[in-house]
Amino acid sequence: MLPTIAWQDDAVVMVDQRKLPTREVYLTCTTPTEIARAIKTMVIRGAPAIGVTAAYGLALGVRRSKAAGTKQLTTEFLKDCDLLAATRPTAVNLFWAIDRMKHVFSEKVLAGASVEDLRQVMLAEAQAIHDEDVASCRAIGKFGGALVPEKAGILTHCNAGALATAGYGTALGVIRGAIEQGRTVSVFADETRPVLQGARLTAWELVRDGIDTTVISDNMAAVLMRQGRINFIVVGADRIAANGDAANKIGTYTVAVLAKEHGIPFYVAAPLSTIDMRTLDGDAIPIEERNRREVTHVGTTQIAPDQAKVYNPAFDVTPHRLIAGIITERGVARAPYTESLQALFDLSAVA
Ligand code: MRU
Repeated sequence: MLPTIAWQDDAVVMVDQRKLPTREVYLTCTTPTEIARAIKTMVIRGAPAIGVTAAYGLALGVRRSKAAGTKQLTTEFLKDCDLLAATRPTAVNLFWAIDRMKHVFSEKVLAGASVEDLRQVMLAEAQAIHDEDVASCRAIGKFGGALVPEKAGILTHCNAGALATAGYGTALGVIRGAIEQGRTVSVFADETRPVLQGARLTAWELVRDGIDTTVISDNMAAVLMRQGRINFIVVGADRIAANGDAANKIGTYTVAVLAKEHGIPFYVAAPLSTIDMRTLDGDAIPIEERNRREVTHVGTTQIAPDQAKVYNPAFDVTPHRLIAGIITERGVARAPYTESLQALFDLSAVA
């Protein structure tokens, strides 16, 4: 499986996704500050992968701290939490992972844990988050794979693959699951302007797995749908509100509207850590705006004049009414989502 992120010798190693597909370069981070920079600059990206990375970042801080006692360690730990929380605003997995690490930290401190205990416990928790994410992706693949037609032309947008998770992927997990279940699959990967996660990352990991993949520019999807070459659409998500509205990479909403016009099922695949029941609807999801250079340049080539104004929201929100189902590790939620998503959480509470 693809090495998105790994803990090695008290450091975090990740493939530098900015350099793919032409160069496979690995970056080693040894401090929470380096981890925060890696998330912000998109060395590593994708909602679940960001959560796992932040958890490792917090474990790194605790393990490398020179704090003499838990009081000082707590001050440092909370500072690291704030640093990591300030990296990217949209993917809720980041805040979910930080909250989970915070919860374990404070429970252990209250129970009288030593600095040394905390070093062990925080790493174990980060590793649990990592392992659970892989297991969730595999379960998403199993549930989602079963929804895919026998002979499928699948459109996906951005990269919701092994690179965007701890491994296997969510949307690409569904594609992998479908193939494991014997479906014949052709994938169309939207290039995904402006950062090109589809062309650079999705195509890279699918081709590496020997999966039939065609890269298209974003404005070609409608024609393929009209030609009848796409009969299933699956994308990931960065944050799903309680009513099922789903924030994902900019351009996802366009795909969902096109899917509706052409009568093609549009699915969102995501673990429960991406579902934010505290955010009631899509309007309340914070949308990151990134720098103008992503739009004015392709690589090092400038394609727009310096004088032009630029708008660069990194994500959009697909309204729940356009979503055929939300594929999670606990099963597939269907409309009405306010009830079906809550039911998945209730299920996990008893499990
Ligand atoms: O800006 P990015 O590359 O972090 O955006 C990634 C996406 O929008 C993914 O589709 C989403 O995080 C789901 S990843 C399983």
